[in-house]
Amino acid sequence: MTEKLELYKCEICGNIAEVVISGGGELVCCGEPMKLLKAGTNDEAATEKHVPVFEYNENDLTIRVGSEPHPMIQSHYIMFIEAISDNQNRLTRQYLHPDENPQMQFKNIDEGKILAREFCNIHGLWEAQSD
Ligand SMILES: [Fe+2]
Repeated sequence: MTEKLELYKCEICGNIAEVVISGGGELVCCGEPMKLLKAGTNDEAATEKHVPVFEYNENDLTIRVGSEPHPMIQSHYIMFIEAISDNQNRLTRQYLHPDENPQMQFKNIDEGKILAREFCNIHGLWEAQSD
């Protein structure tokens, strides 16, 4: 049973799929069930930091990955960041590439709480909720 906004990965080909609207069936790729990605939320003990950090400047918001900037090299980088409104009515995704800053910026943001999540090509999915 899928749920809206879940992310699934095919462990054979690497496809990643997001559930836009849940239909309830199983997602299959390369002939195998896709694996539900579980987000990490605590990287205090890790060398590289992945948990998104929220920085507000009046009505502007920067979501950074992470508390120390994550590497952005070809072999290891943040592939995308998503910001999801509390009611799940709005989702914004920023794709990133090596050599870019691992961050996502908003001007005049009017959302309440935001769930930020990001995907590292090596270390997978991580998330944090704004205050
Ligand atoms: Fe990483």
